[in-house]
Amino acid sequence: MSIINLTEEQTMVRKIAHEFSDKEIKPVASENDKKHKFPKDIIDKLGELGFMGMVVPEEYGGSGFDYLSYIIAVEEISQACASTGAIMSVNNSLVCDPIKTFGDEGQKKTYLPALASGENLGCFMLSEPEAGSDPASMNTTAVKRGKNYVLNGAKCWITNGAEADVAIVFASTDSTKRNKGVSAYIVDMRTTGIIVGKLEDKLGIKATSTAQIYFEDCSVPASNMLGEEGDGFKIAMHTLDGGRIGIAAQAVGIAQSALEESVRYAKERKAFGRSISNFQGLQFMIADMATKIEASRLLTWQAAIMKERGSKYSKNSAMAKLYASETAMWVTTKAIQIHGGYGYTTDYPVERYFRDAKITEIYEGTSEIQRNVIARETLKEIQ
Ligand code: CAA
Repeated sequence: MSIINLTEEQTMVRKIAHEFSDKEIKPVASENDKKHKFPKDIIDKLGELGFMGMVVPEEYGGSGFDYLSYIIAVEEISQACASTGAIMSVNNSLVCDPIKTFGDEGQKKTYLPALASGENLGCFMLSEPEAGSDPASMNTTAVKRGKNYVLNGAKCWITNGAEADVAIVFASTDSTKRNKGVSAYIVDMRTTGIIVGKLEDKLGIKATSTAQIYFEDCSVPASNMLGEEGDGFKIAMHTLDGGRIGIAAQAVGIAQSALEESVRYAKERKAFGRSISNFQGLQFMIADMATKIEASRLLTWQAAIMKERGSKYSKNSAMAKLYASETAMWVTTKAIQIHGGYGYTTDYPVERYFRDAKITEIYEGTSEIQRNVIARETLKEIQ
């Protein structure tokens, strides 16, 4: 199926994820979307499967899989439900990964086992009402007081914000230094001074919660700082490099499902006395959909392999996210077109795929930010 030969383990992960997706998620995905229902039972089962901390080493309670296995699982889960893919991806990429990479031994032992088993859920608090694409301009502050840091400020667009037990929070310890004054903390969400604000009413991924979070004199032990004071911005960027591959995989999953639904529909639906799949105009759409998805998957898998190997991969994860998310938007638009009027109704899942695809062009860095990253690297590479 692809030039990249999957290992036995990766093939097994793909099969398990595909079967779980089909059996446990697909039947409830539309209902959860309509009711805006956070799929707690499914997340618990993903925890039991070892899918909530896939690349966390076994000694910290994780599954110890490689990054490509994780990426393959996100694609398969997102084929049934992009909301579930997003919840899983945030926990794995944006919470477990920075603790695994930047945490000290005590932090890893304290937080990773419960996050990896699905007993605890994590969220990532970087964005603010006035600092989205430009997180170095954040206004949330962390002031050292004795053995604690006291956090004040507002965060927004926080996926899992209302359900999370643990958060990775970024705050400014010295606003005069911009990015070099940002620090990162592991924060227990039960800490006094954390207020869950408005839940956003969104276009898509409606089974996720997206919350505003406020910190009011929230005291966090200094021992919960990730890395050193001022390391936060680089921790955020490094974490997002990995996270963007997860969002690319989510986009590939959405696009793949839209293609499969379109092909099935086109074979069944008749017009002018024959199945519409016989018309060349429609076949060209199917051909372009399949080609763009395959290219997206290859970029995504390549970025995952580069991360696993320890190569520099910021540009490649940005390329994967950019191309896969724009493909998901393009493919789901065509999928509705192929379904005609039926595609515009909630009787068919393609309208959900279309709504869900849009967020992949926005979160974890907009398409414009991905283009910035790609252009900057490319300008450096070519002399
Ligand atoms: N890895 C490690 N370090 C990095 C890095 C990377 N990928 N990218 C940059 N850095 C370092 C730089 O080397 C530089 O270090 P020095 O100061 O020592 O030289 C430092 O970080 C600052 O870099 P820049 O000058 O490039 O920073 P910038 O302010 O120009 O920003 C940017 C660059 C790429 C635009 C960045 O701000 C960015 O990625 N913005 C988008 C943020 C984003 O993705 N937000 C999504 C939030 S998460 C979310 O969506 C919520 C959710 O729940 C899913």
